[in-house]
Amino acid sequence: MSDVFDLDRLRAETPGCAAGMHFNHSGASLPSQSTLTAMWDYLRREAHDGPMETANHATALLDEVRADTAALIGARPSEIAFLASGSTAWGAAFSALPPLAAGDRILVGRQEWGGNLATMQDAAARAGASVETIPVREDGSVDAEALAQMIDERVRLVSLTWLPANSGLINDAAAVGRVTRAAGVPYFIDAGQALGQIPIDVATLGCDVLKAAGRKFLRGPRGTAILYVRQEFLPRLTPRYLDVLSGPIVDGVVKIRNDARCFEAGEISPALIFGLGAATRQARTLGISAIRERIDTLASGLRDNLRSIPNVTLRDLGTEHSGIVSFTIEGIPAAGCSRRECGRPLRTAPGGKRRWPPRSRR
Ligand SMILES: Cc1ncc(COP(=O)(O)O)c(C=O)c1O
Repeated sequence: MSDVFDLDRLRAETPGCAAGMHFNHSGASLPSQSTLTAMWDYLRREAHDGPMETANHATALLDEVRADTAALIGARPSEIAFLASGSTAWGAAFSALPPLAAGDRILVGRQEWGGNLATMQDAAARAGASVETIPVREDGSVDAEALAQMIDERVRLVSLTWLPANSGLINDAAAVGRVTRAAGVPYFIDAGQALGQIPIDVATLGCDVLKAAGRKFLRGPRGTAILYVRQEFLPRLTPRYLDVLSGPIVDGVVKIRNDARCFEAGEISPALIFGLGAATRQARTLGISAIRERIDTLASGLRDNLRSIPNVTLRDLGTEHSGIVSFTIEGIPAAGCSRRECGRPLRTAPGGKRRWPPRSRR
């Protein structure tokens, strides 16, 4: 795979690579220089010409980013909204569903992201509805056949975190989509750890809503996320709040946009979106399948090495694994493990505060 990528060039184009190894892509990745430049250039123009005035000339470029992002997941540009975080995107779509009633049911994957789960549980508790877990197969992955058995006329939503933030699991999200499509039940996918890591095609997945932050495997900036809403599904949603972009008042009548941007705030940071655009272009140029293969090679090597260390247990679930490698070390809690660096404890600054990055890496 290193034949496909010029790794030296790619590392040279990522300033953070000079400082050391970064293992936290599932939290947020190191951006490339082109992503930083896209943001800096725009911020410089804002500072020079005025932020509002600069934005007047940025519309076509923002449309390009939207089109690139849509192409990355097999969507139409009108099906993409930019938001500030994955949770905001998910919450915007969830809160736009018809209100829950007593006895309604929401079905979720076992590894549902905590924030999504909290939102659903809270809404369900207030309505007298229930949130139920879809059974898993022996390997810990979602069981689409069991889901089919659970569906009845009270199910209002199926929600699946495709690649959980730990355990390396890749759920069969498309199998779930086939069940929800056949039943006509809304289907939300949390693709937070999938975007930029594995190929995404919303038609194959059969989802109505999909969201992901830009900062993880796609290597976009923090403060960015995409929300996909299937065009044909949009009429079933009512945004909980509007602004002058999402719902302008025309001749005294509120005209809610009829595209996914009805969930987008009028006030977004173009600089961040251009950073997201640069990261998206780079990922598409490299090819998501090639990226997936490279991640798989690295993660498999890491798994093999960890397996050979006594007292280390891999915590993978599922059969196909993502680049998120989870393990435990007997006798060392997770926090203690992450505090150590190359076998050394993290430096302690005067006053007992932990110092990051350690002096050797600055
Ligand atoms: C699978 C998954 N969903 C949702 C989130 C939350 O996204 P955000 O922090 O952008 O709200 C994360 C963050 O790590 C995640 O891994």
